Parts: sequence; C-alpha cells; structure tokens
Amino acid sequence: MNILSTSILSADFTRLGEQIRIADRAGAQYIHIDVMDGLFVPSISYGMPVMRSVRKITEKTFDVHLMIERPERYIGAFADCGADIITFHLESTDRPAAVIEQIHERGLRAGIAVKPKTPVEAFVPYLGSADMLLVMTVEPGFGGQSYLEDCTGKIRAARKMAEESGRRPDVQVDGGICRENIDTVLDAGANVAVVGSAVFQGDIEKNIKYFLGKLSRQEV
Ligand code: DX5
Ligand code: ZN
Repeated sequence: MNILSTSILSADFTRLGEQIRIADRAGAQYIHIDVMDGLFVPSISYGMPVMRSVRKITEKTFDVHLMIERPERYIGAFADCGADIITFHLESTDRPAAVIEQIHERGLRAGIAVKPKTPVEAFVPYLGSADMLLVMTVEPGFGGQSYLEDCTGKIRAARKMAEESGRRPDVQVDGGICRENIDTVLDAGANVAVVGSAVFQGDIEKNIKYFLGKLSRQEV
C-alpha cells in the first residue's frame, strides 16, 4: 500500500495539536516527526516533550526521522515517547547494524536514510534487516526546499534493491515532494511519501486528499 507521511516540521506550532487532528481525520496514515540536533544538520527542531504531548491526540503511526549524530544514544528515549518507526541516517553512526537491532528490540520498525550525495549502495548491507529505505530528495535540515531531480534515479535503484531482497522494505522519499513531482516519485518506485509544506501550506485537508488520491491510484 502507498502511504502518506505528513511532516509536521511545516505545521503552525501555535496550532500543532489542531493541525495534527486535521491531518489524522483527513486520512494521512503516518505523522512524520523530524528530529534535528544542530550537529548532523544545521538546524534544531524538537524532541521528546513535543512527541510525548502529541502522542496523546492521535493513534496514527509516528514516523520518526532522526537527523542526529550517534542515534544509538536515543533509540530508547524515542521508543518511550511513542515512536512506531525510527529512521536514522547511515552517515550519522559507525554501527548501523546495532542501531537497527536496538530499534527492533523495542518492537519498532527500523528505517535507514541516505542524504542526496550518499549512494544507495550504502543500503546493501542492511537489506536483510531494515524495514524502510529513506531516499532524501533534499539536503536534510529544513522544510520547504526544492526537490533535487538527480535523486529520481536513486529512488528507482532503491526500489530495485527492495524488490530483490527477501524482506522487501518500504521505499520512502522525503524533501520537496509536491503536486508537481508526486507522480515522478511514485513512478520511480517510492511507496511512502513524506510531504511537509505541500500539506501544511494552505488547506491541509484538501492537500491531504489530493495526495491520497495520487497515492491510491498508483500502487507499486
Ligand atoms: C527535511 C525533513 C523533511 C521536511 C520535508 O530535512 O526531513 O521531512 O520536513 O518538508 P518539505 O516537504 O517541505 O520538503
Ligand atoms: Zn524528514
């Protein structure tokens, strides 16, 4: 099944709960939570207290995207705050296999991510254990950037790898996904689309319905 993961980084934080409720009711399957530490990426976003608080208002899957150095330090903490999926960057740790194991030990799904300049071949050693491959389609760190066209080939390559591995992990795309390129990323083989500004700018419900329509027409 194709899935919409709405990134709350682009939400209006003065109305965060209300906007998550709108996204929930409109049918978004995942809530994408971007955690930034100011080291792995230049910006600092939010962390455990925000997650704990919004966990109370929705049952939707919490799709946590860690953009932090040495994520192994925080898997337990994010599991405790209600994460369902934890994705970390292969560039952020020297022991990805152990981090995947930590996530699985908590009974959660494990995603692995690569920045635009990291080749998808980096996924290969973990194809037997990862549940999701995240192909970043902007440099991680900020919402509202433009999709990097060069990344389309990487989505295609990740899909091929996913199909050829016994585990068949999901292929997620994140960064600059909008009405103009959703077909492109679905055609390339993505089945989980993270959408931030294209959902939260304007009418959230209408935007979500639009993307869900696209996602349901194109099953991979
Ligand atoms: C960027 C984040 C994204 C971001 C996507 O580092 O990982 O999840 O919120 O936002 P848009 O869809 O606006 O590019
Ligand atoms: Zn993200």
